[in-house]
Amino acid sequence: MDWKELYKQKCVTAEEAISHIHDGDRVVTAFGCCEPVGIERVMLENYKQFHDVQVSNMLLIGDTFWVHDEVKGHFKYNSFFASASSRAALANGDADFTTSHFYEIPAVLHDVIKPRVTIMSVCPPDENGYVSLGTSVDYIESTLHYCDVKIAQVNKYVPRAQGRAVKHISEFDYFVEIDEPLLEVPAAPLSDVERAIGKNCASLINDGDCLQLGIGGIPNAICEELKNKKDLGLHSEMVSDGVVDLIKSGVINNSKKQTHNGVTVLAFAFGTKKLFDFMDNNPAIEMHPVEYVNHPVEISKNDNMVSINSCIQVDLMGQVVSDTIGLRQFSGVGGQVDFVRGATLSKGGRSIMAMPSTTKNDTISKIVPTITENSAVTTPRNDVNYIVTEYGVAQLKGQTLKNRARALINIAHPNFREELKAEFKRRFNEDF
Ligand code: COA
Repeated sequence: MDWKELYKQKCVTAEEAISHIHDGDRVVTAFGCCEPVGIERVMLENYKQFHDVQVSNMLLIGDTFWVHDEVKGHFKYNSFFASASSRAALANGDADFTTSHFYEIPAVLHDVIKPRVTIMSVCPPDENGYVSLGTSVDYIESTLHYCDVKIAQVNKYVPRAQGRAVKHISEFDYFVEIDEPLLEVPAAPLSDVERAIGKNCASLINDGDCLQLGIGGIPNAICEELKNKKDLGLHSEMVSDGVVDLIKSGVINNSKKQTHNGVTVLAFAFGTKKLFDFMDNNPAIEMHPVEYVNHPVEISKNDNMVSINSCIQVDLMGQVVSDTIGLRQFSGVGGQVDFVRGATLSKGGRSIMAMPSTTKNDTISKIVPTITENSAVTTPRNDVNYIVTEYGVAQLKGQTLKNRARALINIAHPNFREELKAEFKRRFNEDF
């Protein structure tokens, strides 16, 4: 059958598409800028027709759809990464949280959660019947291989991203045509502290390195400091707007990469129209599934891999807490450990954990004698290499416990150094 005929047959209203979701079903949806909000909105409007449906996605950036009070008993949200939109519901039990390294989430979905229905966003088909998953390929691509019901919101605002984002319409069961601008994640203006952190990180990056940039404000600050570098590569779980100018100017040209030479490789994109437009039909950017992009062995195939992520707290042994504050689930591990380990395995590779030395207007030090009670260690001390703050760089790998503590105190905020030095004396029976 001609693909156009097939496509026409599969095009239905949102109401019809969601009528294939049954009570007790597990549903997985794409997240971030390509969250299929047009279909989700119709699910929410018709919530009374659903009972005990679990909806999993990575994280919520927009409306708190799945955690609205009235949908209790109808939908239950299961998150892999807490955000401002879901933290309260996670804290009071109205939503669930599943912790997993990002590269393992496709396997966790397939083997444990076992969703029957998958819902994602795609751009309209091209002249040969191919659509693209746009900014979110990550865990959602693999669900097309096993879910019983595969639904896509066809949206002209979705960029025609390349790589494994490209799918033939025959891989879907139902299409719902709803055009609406994508959710955006704009970068906040950079603070002086972030700029200083960006400079300190850039001092550890050499021409020809292959980068991974994590989530939060610091990656954009680092991008600002890379303008005079050459021949950088990008193999990153995600990027935001900050990389667009670096790729356009040729600073990032991927010419030294061992895998996907000449091409930026990503699992998802988190930004604004500037980034979406740049990704659209751009053969120099490929989107691939997260079980591939974030697999530590795959990451390590590129020499001089440098991972840069951020964290909530570091103790004087170098244990890194990135996703909890005590028992409170604050974010998620995401791909942090995937990339720390991949960069460590890479020839010439380095991992960087970059954070402001304090938070809450300098009232809380992020470098602490011991981590907050009940917090989970995200990156174990044996995996940690460089810690960076606005005050400098602490290189921890291979260092004694005493030298680790010394290096960390040297990059702590001056307001907290005396108490950290007192702890140093207690712990090591020696003046700082
Ligand atoms: N104690 C209490 N609160 C803290 C804190 C601490 N030690 N450290 C940070 N916070 C609070 C800040 O005050 C801020 O609160 P606010 O939102 O009320 O202003 C909030 O946490 C976010 O801090 P900020 O410094 O703006 O964080 P960020 O946006 O740069 O994100 C992480 C930092 C750690 C949350 C984020 O990088 C993360 O989730 N990392 C883990 C996942 C990861 O690395 N993935 C890798 C690839 S995507």
